[in-house]
Order: sequence, then structure tokens, then C-alpha cells
Amino acid sequence: MSVSVEKKIEELRNQIIKHDYNYYVLAEPIISDENYDKLIKELEKLETENPQLVTPDSPTQRVGKDLTKEFNPVKHKIPMLSLSNTYDEQDLFDFDRRVKEALSEKEKVEYVVELKIDGASVSINYINGKFKTAATRGDGTTGEEITTNVKTIRSIPLKIDLSKVKKYKLNDFEVRGEVFMRIEDFENLNKERESKEEKLFANPRNSTAGTLKLQDPKIVASRKLNVFLYSLISVDEEFNSQQENLKLLKDLGFMVNDKYQICKSIDEVLKVCNKFEEIRDTLDYEIDGAVIKVNSIHQQKILGSIAKSPRWAVAYKFKSKQAFTKLNDITWQVGRTGAITPVAELEPVKLAGSTISRATLHNFDEIQRKDIRVGDTVVIEKGGDVIPKVVSVVLSERAKKSQATNPPEKCPVCNSKIFKPENEVAFYCENPECSAQIKGRLIHFAARGAMDIEGLGDALIDLFVDKGFINHISDIYKLKNKRADLIKIERLGEKSIDNLLNAIEKSKSQPFSKVLFAIGIRYIGAGAAQKITDHFNSIDDIIVADEEEITSVYEIGPSISKSIKQFFSDKKNVKLIEELKKSGLNFISEKKEIKQTKLTGKTFVLTGTLSSFSREDAGARVIDLGGKVTSSVSTNTDYVVAGEKAGSKLSKAESLGVKVIDETAFLKLLEENE
Ligand code: IVH
Repeated sequence: MSVSVEKKIEELRNQIIKHDYNYYVLAEPIISDENYDKLIKELEKLETENPQLVTPDSPTQRVGKDLTKEFNPVKHKIPMLSLSNTYDEQDLFDFDRRVKEALSEKEKVEYVVELKIDGASVSINYINGKFKTAATRGDGTTGEEITTNVKTIRSIPLKIDLSKVKKYKLNDFEVRGEVFMRIEDFENLNKERESKEEKLFANPRNSTAGTLKLQDPKIVASRKLNVFLYSLISVDEEFNSQQENLKLLKDLGFMVNDKYQICKSIDEVLKVCNKFEEIRDTLDYEIDGAVIKVNSIHQQKILGSIAKSPRWAVAYKFKSKQAFTKLNDITWQVGRTGAITPVAELEPVKLAGSTISRATLHNFDEIQRKDIRVGDTVVIEKGGDVIPKVVSVVLSERAKKSQATNPPEKCPVCNSKIFKPENEVAFYCENPECSAQIKGRLIHFAARGAMDIEGLGDALIDLFVDKGFINHISDIYKLKNKRADLIKIERLGEKSIDNLLNAIEKSKSQPFSKVLFAIGIRYIGAGAAQKITDHFNSIDDIIVADEEEITSVYEIGPSISKSIKQFFSDKKNVKLIEELKKSGLNFISEKKEIKQTKLTGKTFVLTGTLSSFSREDAGARVIDLGGKVTSSVSTNTDYVVAGEKAGSKLSKAESLGVKVIDETAFLKLLEENE
């Protein structure tokens, strides 16, 4: 092989990297798309002819060919903290006071105020200047590896020229920032999804988070993600200030949002926050606030962090965005539990990065309280995570002949009788076979976080229920016997049906906790399902358990245990479980590798405040050692761990003669067995 090929490849790569930087980071391209494509094609050709010269940091290697099977957990070397929120002037002054109280009087405090980008946080690791891995924030301690997807973001360098910043030691460093989608790209993506009758994303943040978790990097690459970096952490380098950190990120070729400002007082900070709120609508990406950081890293260290947030930084959250629009109609939606909720059908209006045409009205009481009438001009609001809601009515614009709305008399979907339980605000459809309830249960069952059946979304469920292919959850696993009929459905075709049938088969390996969540027992969220399956070995054990035993599971309350008992008292539900068992779903708890220690099989109750860890973390350590944690003291309890201010549980333990230990003895017990 001639040296010149190697050189040519190197040259092409450097040219492309430079153009990528100009285009994606600076937004100032100096070459036409056509000529850029020519460079890429030429490089691809040379690399195909000389495969031994392909390196992972070549621009041709951004988009991987393989699907990501699983997003593996990655433990962050340094935890990814989150920010506590402030909402007004007073909160900001309080923050400033706390900062100053913790520092000595002679210290001058300077703040950096940055935009709070509304996307998904990411951490990327570089070793010897090369992009290695990328991870989501996760719970702050452990995230998920999304390397192949982040690699497709072209504003992120795959290789960094460290010679540009000789004064720093940067052999092993991490950069952190916020991945986001520009509003225009988000809107185009939704238009495309609408034309394919796919579910729309609610806002740019959701579409960013959803895209980062796609299995196919090719689709990720087509979604035009971007990232603003705000922090660089080097294993063997210390910086003086956040400002220096931002400058370094920029010098290394990362995209840094340059709207940040240095402020010498909290009054200045407030002015900048207000200014950011004013320019919010002029930006082509979404922000939901400002982030205020103590500039000096030395001061940041003195301030440290409490729980999961630093004491040296806060978020200043903007007020929810509001808009005026006309209420065209009030419709009633039936959910999977039969609850009938009113929905405001609105004249479409733009708000916080998306077009809103529906908003929740919560329940009939709320409609009455706010006296909301069809034809009214209403104020709608959208906070950070929430679905848009109707805040109030503009009474001065009310038409003379307007009439108050009545609650529905029958189920709007199946015409069955409706009822209103005492102490509840909602009306319910009494017919469990109501198609809206069936569809709701199926949507919940197939959703991500439950059985995670890719491709089985709202639209397809609607279609399958309407065409009579599915009536019950268990029918999903019988669809494979109807392949011949399914592929005849217009718009579906063989390939998509086979993908769906494969996804259905794959869902059979979901763990028991997800299955328990998916079957939709009232009040059992994903967290409760996990706690219940950690405690019980199988569904059979849950079915026979009495309410008291279920309530004894740590953090499981009486409404959940009552609901479980009620669910299984219905023979139809027991039959459903039998059918799902036959289809091969998991109804047995995963056997964790249980260490044989002195704590194996011992039952603990934790009460009062512990000073070395939260009760949750303490419980996790007991479970790791093979023990169990329950919430109520009985004669079956082996140890009651009494922290500070322990109350009734301690007295009960004493009266039953159960062994009580304090935190020191508890720690000793854990350490002896770990
Ligand atoms: S600093 C310890 N700066 O907001 C400091 N965060 O809870 C932690 N975010 O998920 C974050 N823009 O991803 C910081 N300029 C900015 C930010 C920012 C957006 C996100 C971040 C985190 C959340 C804060």
C-alpha cells in the first residue's frame, strides 16, 4: 500500500472534520453540500478499497450499521447531579444568602448565568483525544450507554486536537451537556410522523429523549440532534472557574452556548434571568429557565453538594407559557380504568414549541368551578412536563347565549351506564368490555416500560380492536396464528407484520416486574410492581397472599394491597393470568444471586432517621445481603433498626420483644456480612 493513500485519507478526514465544525458548530459553512458530499464519497471509496485503514474516529464511522440490542448500564465516575429549582426573586436571594453564609466574608462571589436548555443530559468520555463512550444521566449514579447514538451527532467531535490546549492535562476527560432538537426540526419530524399516522412527540424534549433511545443509529442520524456542552471534567486537571471551563470546551471544538453572562451580584443575576425569559421566544431551541453557577471552582468545592444537587448552582425556572384560544368543544374520554375525563377541543394554537389543539379539563367539578363553557375564549398553560391545561376563562369575551356543560349521562363510547364512586370526582363507565377501556388496557400493556412491544402503538391497537383481531390482552400473543389475515390489512404488509410478531415474541422475555405492571392493576405503577416482585417469588404467591402480607412489603400501602386482592377476586383476571402463562410470559421473580450471609432470610424494619444513608439505600443493602425489608413490625420481624426520632414501630418492637438495634450496630452488622 502506498503511503500516499494513507496521506490522502488523512487529508480528506481533516477536511471533512473542518467542514463539519464550520457547518454544525459555527453554522457558517464554507463549502456547498454537493462538494462536501464529494469529499465523503471519495473518503468512503478509499476506505472501502483499504479497509485496514478505517478507524473508529473517521467521519464515515458516525453511523453504525448494527442495531443497539440493549442500552447497557454505565456507572458515572463522578455522579451527574441535578439542580434544585428557584421560581422567583426571593428564591434567588435566598440562594445567594446561603452561598455567602457558607463562604468566608472576604470571598467575593461571581456567578455565571447560562441558558437552561430543555433537552436530555449526556456525558461523553474522551480518552487520549478520542471519543469513547456516551451515557444518559439515568438516576445520576448510573446511566445508560448511548455511544452509537451520540456518535451520530455531527457537532460532536470524534477526535480532538489536544495540541491546541497544551497547558491542560486532558488524557482522560468527560464533557457534559444537553442534547436537544431545534424547534423547526422537531416540527418537521412531527409532520412526517403525522403523515405516517405515527404518534406525535409532545415537545422537542420528548423527541430528543426518545431519539437517544432508538435502536437504529441510522434513524438517530436522520433526526438532527444537537448538543450544547457546559462542563468538562478531567481526571488529572483542575480549573479555576466555570468561565474557564466553557472557554476550554469552545477551544476544543465543542458547541457551547455563548449567551452565558458573568454577574457580580445577585441583582445582576436576576436582570439576566429576566432578559433570558424575554428572549426565550426568539431562540430556535427550547429553554425552560436559566442556570446560575458560582464561577469559582475553589468556592464550588467549599460549598459542595447536598443529596443530589450542588449547593453552588440552582436553576431559575421560567413561568409556564400561556396562550389564549377558543374552546370549540368539550368531549369525554374513557380511560383504561373506565374513568371518564373531559377534554377541551381547542382552536389550534402555538405554545412552548408545539401546536396545542387539546387540553385536559381534569373532571366535571373543575369545569363547574371554573365555569368553562363551549365557545369561551380560554387561557391555556403548559408547564415543564405536564399536559396542557385550561387555566381560566376570559369572561369579558363570553358570548351572551353560552350554556354550561352537563356531565355525560351514558358512556360516550359504549353507551353503558355510568357511576360516580363516593369520595371520587370522576365518573366511570361500568362496562369493562367497553372498547375504550379495552384499548386503554392494551395500550398500557404494550407500552415502553411495560411489555415494550415495539410497533404496537395507539393506531394499530385501534385498528386491531375495531377489526376484531384483539379483544383481550391475551389475544396479542395469538396474533401469530392470524398472520395470513393480518398481512391483508391495507397499509400494513408482510414486513411490518413480521416485525410486529417478532416484537410480540420478544416481549415474552420481559421480567416479572414489568409483566405485573403491564397487566394494569389499579395503583400499581412500575416502582410498586418492582417492590412487590422483589418480595414475592411468583404470581401464585401474590394471588394467595392476604392484604396484610402485601402491605408488609416495604413502601406498599393498603390501597395497593386492596386493589391487588380485588383484581384477583375477579375470575376473569385469574383466567387472563393462566392464558398469559400458557403463552410463556414471566410470572416468576428473577432469582437474584442471593449471598449466603448471616442476614439471609432475616426480616428488617427500618424506622426513624438514619444519619449515614437514606432508609431506601439502607434497605437496598439489606436486600443485597439476602435479607428482607418490611414496613410493619410483627413477631416475624428479626430486627428493628431504630434511627433518630423512631416512634410507634419502636414501641411495638419493644412490646413484642423484637430485637432493636441502633444505627451503629446496624452498620456493623452490614459491614460484617458484606
Ligand atoms: S448544570 C451540577 N447547566 O438541567 C450541575 N444543567 O437538573 C448540573 N441543563 O439534567 C447541571 N442546561 O442536563 C447545567 N446550562 C446548563 C444546563 C443544564 C440544561 C439540564 C441538565 C440537568 C438539568 C438540571
